[in-house]
Amino acid sequence: MWFYPRIIAHRGGGTLAPENTLAAMRCGLARGFHAVEFDVMLSGDGVPVLMHDPDFGRTVRGAGRVCDTTAAALAALDAGSWFGPQFAGEPVPDFEQVVAFCKANNIWMNIEIKPAPGFETQTGSVVAALTQRLFAAEIAAQVPSGNDASLPLFSSFSFDALQAAKAAAPGIARGFLVDTIPSDWMALLRELDAVALHTNHRHLTEQLARAVKAQDVGLLCYTVNTPQRAREIMAWGVDAFCTDRIDLIAPDFA
Ligand code: G3P
Ligand code: MG
Repeated sequence: MWFYPRIIAHRGGGTLAPENTLAAMRCGLARGFHAVEFDVMLSGDGVPVLMHDPDFGRTVRGAGRVCDTTAAALAALDAGSWFGPQFAGEPVPDFEQVVAFCKANNIWMNIEIKPAPGFETQTGSVVAALTQRLFAAEIAAQVPSGNDASLPLFSSFSFDALQAAKAAAPGIARGFLVDTIPSDWMALLRELDAVALHTNHRHLTEQLARAVKAQDVGLLCYTVNTPQRAREIMAWGVDAFCTDRIDLIAPDFA
């Protein structure tokens, strides 16, 4: 079962804006996307911020680690120049700011919990507890069956982060992220009480997709960047995918 949007802008604005920034969220929205995926990591002082890489060098200049840098210092870094001069000065946003933007603009969120190595449990726990607080009203209004698209969906490659998220925010659903689908995937999903499997489309076959769907769990693929591949996997029963090519694949793609 899948209660969520089907076409999701990856890292906010895909290839059109610097990933995991508010500019990226605005860009996805300008293209009509009301569903985003982004990555959340803890700053050195334990504040959830949007960031993919644990080390500086790619999206922010210089050397250093996110886990050694305070949220205030991260907010002063330039996470836009690497992408293009028109984004110079675009800060590393904190998670709470991005949730506020998404809520104000009716954007559904796939919150990928992206712990720096060694911070798996702490990241899952802190991100989930904050999300639970930010969505307290929506959680209280939820129908008993759950899986309500008024709530975000957590995902993570880290089993431990998702276990911690489950403990901290049991009312917010989880998807387990894997690059290749392991043979014991259903046992892992059960242990996490997860509603979906999120996997790399490159390693997905029709047989595997149908096996997952036969278990009545959601199946999301990353990162699908051609309409042709998107059509193919959707014909296999894939429920949703995130894409970098929000210029080629519209939010109402079918
Ligand atoms: O959540 C799907 C996808 O974003 C996972 O890979 O490395 O782009 O975060 P990555
Ligand atoms: Mg991600």
